[in-house]
Amino acid sequence: EQSEQEMIKQIQAIKDFFGEKLYIPGHHYQKDEVIKFADDTGDSLQLARLAQQNKAAEYIVFCGVHFMAETADMLTGDNQKVILPDMRAGCSMADMADIIQTHYCWNELHQLFGDTITPLTYVNSTADIKAFVGKHQGATVTSSNAKQMVQWALTQKQRILFLPDQHLGRNTAYDLGIPLTEMAVWDPIKQELEYTGDVQAIRVILWKGHCSVHENFTTKNSSYTREHEPDRKIIVHPECKWEVVQQADFAGSTNYIIETIKAAPAGTKWSIGTEMNLVKRLIQQNPDKDIVSLNPYMCPCLTMNRIDLPHLLWALDTLKNGEMINQIKVDERTTRYANMALEKMLATV
Ligand code: 13P
Ligand code: SF4
Repeated sequence: EQSEQEMIKQIQAIKDFFGEKLYIPGHHYQKDEVIKFADDTGDSLQLARLAQQNKAAEYIVFCGVHFMAETADMLTGDNQKVILPDMRAGCSMADMADIIQTHYCWNELHQLFGDTITPLTYVNSTADIKAFVGKHQGATVTSSNAKQMVQWALTQKQRILFLPDQHLGRNTAYDLGIPLTEMAVWDPIKQELEYTGDVQAIRVILWKGHCSVHENFTTKNSSYTREHEPDRKIIVHPECKWEVVQQADFAGSTNYIIETIKAAPAGTKWSIGTEMNLVKRLIQQNPDKDIVSLNPYMCPCLTMNRIDLPHLLWALDTLKNGEMINQIKVDERTTRYANMALEKMLATV
C-alpha cells in the first residue's frame, strides 16, 4: 500500500507528463484530496460549460458522478475521451428516473392532458432521460438556472413535466408564483398521479425523485437552530424539501451558497444545508465566520466520495500506460437528442 504522500507525488507527475492534453474538472462536492488536483472546480452548470469550451484536452478525467461525465462526453468532440475514476460513482437521484418508466408516464399524462406538456430534466439525470426530453422539445436545467428554464418552458406549452427531482421542481415553481395546488407528483413506482383539487388546473407535474443527501435536512433541524441561535442564518440547496426551503433565509445552487458565504460579513453565523465536503471546505475557507452544517450529523454524498486519491491515481496511471479504462461514451443517437436539450439550456442562460 502506498502512502498518501507517494500518491500525491505520482498524480502530480502524471499531470505534468500530460500537460494540456489532460483536463481534470472537479465538482464542489468532491473530497479535498481530489479537489486539489482539479484544473477547474464548479457546480454542475459551470462544469458543463467548461467541458464544452475545452478543446485542447484529449483526456477529461471527471471528478464528479456518472451523469456529469456523460454530459461532458456529449458536449465534447469525438477526439476527446471522458474517464470516470470509479464506475460506482453514480447518483441515486439520477437512477430514480429510468427511460421505460418515463415513456409510460408520458403516455399516461398525454391521455389526461393531451399535447400540453413540455418536459424539463435536471442535469442530474441519465443521458437517456436527457435525450427523451430533447426529442420532445424540452430542455435540461441546473440548480443555477432552474427558474429561467421553468419560466421558458411555461411559455412553450401550458404544462411542464419536471424530472427527476421533485424538490427542485416544486421549490422553483413555487418561487415563480405557482401554488402547490397547481402541482402534481408522478409516482413512477405506483404509476399514478398524486394531486389535490382540480386535475385540469395542474400546471407542474413533478417526478417523484429526490436527492438522498439533501433530504436529510429537516424542519426539525431548522426549528432547533431558530430556537437556540436566532442570529444564525440558514442557507440551503433547493434539492432540500419545500418546507425546509420555506424556513431558510436563503436558498440556491452550490455556487450561490459559496458566493453568499464568501460575501457575508466577518463574525456572521451560518447554518448550511448541503453536502458535507462543501460545508467542510466553506468552514476552512471562511475562518472569520461561524459555519455549521444544518444537520449536525453532516451529510456526505457517498457516491461522490467514491472518487478518492487511490482511484484518481489508478485512472491516471492506467491512462499513462496507454490503456483506456472507465471511458464514459454515450452513443451517437442519444447524444444528438440529449444535446438538443442541453444546448437549449446553454443558449438560454
Ligand atoms: P449543483 O452543482 O447544480 O448545485 O448540483 C448539486 C448536486 O447535487 C450535484 O450532484
Ligand atoms: Fe446525486 Fe444528491 Fe449526490 Fe448530487 S448530492 S450526486 S444529487 S445523490
